[in-house]
Amino acid sequence: MKKIAPSILSADFGRLAEEIKAVEEAGADWIHLDIMDGHFVPNLTIGPPVVRALRKITSLPFDVHLMIENPDSYLDAFIDAGSDILTVHVEAATHLQRTLAYIRGRNIKAGVALNPATPLGVLEEIIDDCDLILIMTVNPGFGGQHFIPSMISKIRRTRDILAKQAKPILMEVDGGISPGNIKEVSHAGADVFVAGAAVFTSSDYSSTIKQMKEAIS
Ligand code: DX5
Ligand code: ZN
Repeated sequence: MKKIAPSILSADFGRLAEEIKAVEEAGADWIHLDIMDGHFVPNLTIGPPVVRALRKITSLPFDVHLMIENPDSYLDAFIDAGSDILTVHVEAATHLQRTLAYIRGRNIKAGVALNPATPLGVLEEIIDDCDLILIMTVNPGFGGQHFIPSMISKIRRTRDILAKQAKPILMEVDGGISPGNIKEVSHAGADVFVAGAAVFTSSDYSSTIKQMKEAIS
């Protein structure tokens, strides 16, 4: 089953609880939380206390995307705050295999994110240690950017790699996903679609999510 994961980066931060409730009622499958440290990416967002507070609002899975340096120093804090899936960037994790094994050892799902310029070759070495591959379709740091068209080919090549695995591994895509391009991205092979601006700047969350779900069904 393909999934829609609204990114709260484009939500109204003064009303985060209401915004999460609203996308849950509108049919969201997961909630995507973008964690930025001002070092790995040129922007700052939220930390574990906010994740913990939001955890009480919904039972939807929390898909936590760490765009931070030294992710190992914060794994426990984000897991204890209520993450269901914790994704780290290849470019930020020095000992990626150990990081992924640690996350799984704490009984949640481990994801690996690749920036647009990062080659897929790295997957060969860590594919057995992760549950989800996150293909960035923009350079991370900000919501509302345009999907990078050359990422369609990368998504197809990722699909081919994942098809050869014995165990199912989800492919998530993140950045510039909209009702206008989601069908093409889905055909290329993605399973989970993060959408920030497309959902939260729309006037009707339900109809936007419904439109996206119809396009990928
Ligand atoms: C990018 C973040 C994304 C982003 C998606 O740095 O990781 O999750 O918020 O937002 P849109 O859908 O607006 O590109
Ligand atoms: Zn993200």
